[in-house]
Amino acid sequence: MRVFVTGGTGHSGSYIIGELIAAGHEVTGLARSDTAAAALSAFGAKVRRGDLEDLDGLKEAAADSDGVIHLAHRQDLLFSGGIDAVAAAEHPIMLAYGEALAGTGKPLVAAGSIGSSGSLGRPATEEDPALPTGDEHKGTLHARNIVETAVIDLAERGVRSSVVRIANIAHSTTDRAGFLMQLIALAKEKGFVGYPGDGANLWNAVHVRDAAAVLRLALEKGPAARYWHAVGDEGIPFREIAEAIGSRLGLPVMSIPTDVLMVPGYFGFLANLVTQSYPASNLITRRTLGWEPTQPGLLADLDNGHYFPAG
Ligand SMILES: NC(=O)c1ccc[n+]([C@@H]2O[C@H](COP(=O)([O-])OP(=O)(O)OC[C@H]3O[C@@H](n4cnc5c(N)ncnc54)[C@H](OP(=O)(O)O)[C@@H]3O)[C@@H](O)[C@H]2O)c1
Repeated sequence: MRVFVTGGTGHSGSYIIGELIAAGHEVTGLARSDTAAAALSAFGAKVRRGDLEDLDGLKEAAADSDGVIHLAHRQDLLFSGGIDAVAAAEHPIMLAYGEALAGTGKPLVAAGSIGSSGSLGRPATEEDPALPTGDEHKGTLHARNIVETAVIDLAERGVRSSVVRIANIAHSTTDRAGFLMQLIALAKEKGFVGYPGDGANLWNAVHVRDAAAVLRLALEKGPAARYWHAVGDEGIPFREIAEAIGSRLGLPVMSIPTDVLMVPGYFGFLANLVTQSYPASNLITRRTLGWEPTQPGLLADLDNGHYFPAG
């Protein structure tokens, strides 16, 4: 297939290009700068110069392709407008892809998040839809659910659209700004590793190379209107993650009382997230797409030499 990929220079994106080329596909990546163009060429992709703000350009690129994998996101808007602004910028992009691909049956695979189906008190599955989004969700991660819902809705217009929900913690040797990097930086800054309350809340994780395989399989053979879970570790207690980081850094590990002052005091803007529990199942993804994670799990991958370089 001739695949159009956005976000090919990002953490997940840089693995998907190699994954697609190794499977015999031809990849064109969106680049908004010379640096991005050079990186995409180095990965073996063709380059299409453009920006997420150019909806006509995205439509043209989608129409020229046999399928689209969309991973780019306007993270630059986070600081000015929060998650609402990021979602508001992404929603019209999905509608633009819809215009380009309607009636073609071509695949559109977009990144989503575990957590979009809410706190269910049980592991989230691929059958749990994204929660509807309302004004009351402004400023929360739910605000982005309009994007997942728009992608799924495109199936009714003849697009083989699906959402790959990437685990909350994506890890690899090229992780620059992911959740693990932030936890490690916080621990170094504070001189100890914190976990909220009893730390029994569960976090899911995936190696981005395994996530890339889910994205490819969804593109190649995933039915329309489906959610897939790119999840390797289905639920690790937060305390275990904190203890693993503490043992590598030689720092004490301590509970942070879950009150309104203490959690933000340690975790800052991550405070609303770290107290959540996000167990997630990957069973339907494995069974339907024939996917199996092959890379190290989160705790083993802490010793990949990237997170804690020797010395
Ligand atoms: N745990 C996770 O990491 C996780 C979990 C759930 C969902 N996701 C989602 O998965 C997707 C990929 O995440 P990631 O961590 O791999 O992304 P990332 O490392 O932050 O990379 C962002 C990508 O978007 C591109 N981009 C940003 N603004 C752009 C613009 N205006 N025009 C064109 N390209 C632009 C960047 O290109 P440049 O190289 O030019 O900057 C880069 O390739 C995102 O939608 C994210 O929300 C991630």
